[in-house]
Amino acid sequence: MPLPILATEGVRKTFGGLCALSGVDIEVRPGTMTMLIGPNGSGKTTLLNVISGFYRPDGGKVLFEDKEITGMRPERISKMGLVRTFQVPSPFQKLSVLENLLIAGDGNPGESFMLAPLRNAWMKKEKEIYERALKNLELLSLTHLWDKPAGTLSGGQLKLLEVGRALMTGARVIMMDEPASGLNPTLAHKVFEHLDRVKKEAGLTFLIIEHRLDIALQYVDYVFAMASGQVIAHGKGDEVMADPKVIEGYLGSAE
Ligand SMILES: Nc1ncnc2c1ncn2[C@@H]1O[C@H](COP(=O)(O)OP(=O)(O)O)[C@@H](O)[C@H]1O
Ligand SMILES: [Mg+2]
Repeated sequence: MPLPILATEGVRKTFGGLCALSGVDIEVRPGTMTMLIGPNGSGKTTLLNVISGFYRPDGGKVLFEDKEITGMRPERISKMGLVRTFQVPSPFQKLSVLENLLIAGDGNPGESFMLAPLRNAWMKKEKEIYERALKNLELLSLTHLWDKPAGTLSGGQLKLLEVGRALMTGARVIMMDEPASGLNPTLAHKVFEHLDRVKKEAGLTFLIIEHRLDIALQYVDYVFAMASGQVIAHGKGDEVMADPKVIEGYLGSAE
């Protein structure tokens, strides 16, 4: 089995007297879609906040591609390739889908273009960004919308544009908090089908929180079930869903 691309070891986080995470260990293997599940308040979002650098943990470690990233700033972590989708600034409503991808693709032409000796290098980089944008449009089935203002996209298409923008930043691991929320089942499946495609065709790794298990489970390779700030079970989806502790956790949390 390949080494984890992302791992937490004994992560603890408290808010005042409340222990939101009490020693959380997870391992995310490269090229998988890994999902965090658990009742409301079990610590899922807090864990993503610690991994992505928004919260500094009170204890434990976060490791990404074998480097310890615990307590690093969110921008630094996302530049390293561990990207939470909302970290990619939200799409510019009036700009087209393609322009939104180009802007996310760290082009930032302004200054470097003025440096004449580097102009050729800059042109080459622009071309590379453009080609990557077209490839990502294709991957996400957004090609037909390339010239549409982002503000006219549907909820599902916007989720896919968010993923496209994350890909443009060079993400290798993408973290999303409830990508299916607010979408009808057909669109929710469409979003997950595309995440699956990005995983398989572009080799990305996903760490996803989702409470709509009816939709998400079929796309998922590995599940960590949390309750009260701890991992109570992990394994393949059907194994975890059959675990009495998980069943109890869900029945006990009349959501
Ligand atoms: N910024 C915060 N300040 C205080 N308490 C928080 C904060 N963020 C989360 N919590 C608390 O931590 C616990 C875990 O919350 P959260 O990670 O959002 O759970 P989940 O995403 O699984 O629903 C909850 O009791 C929540 O109220
Ligand atoms: Mg949450």
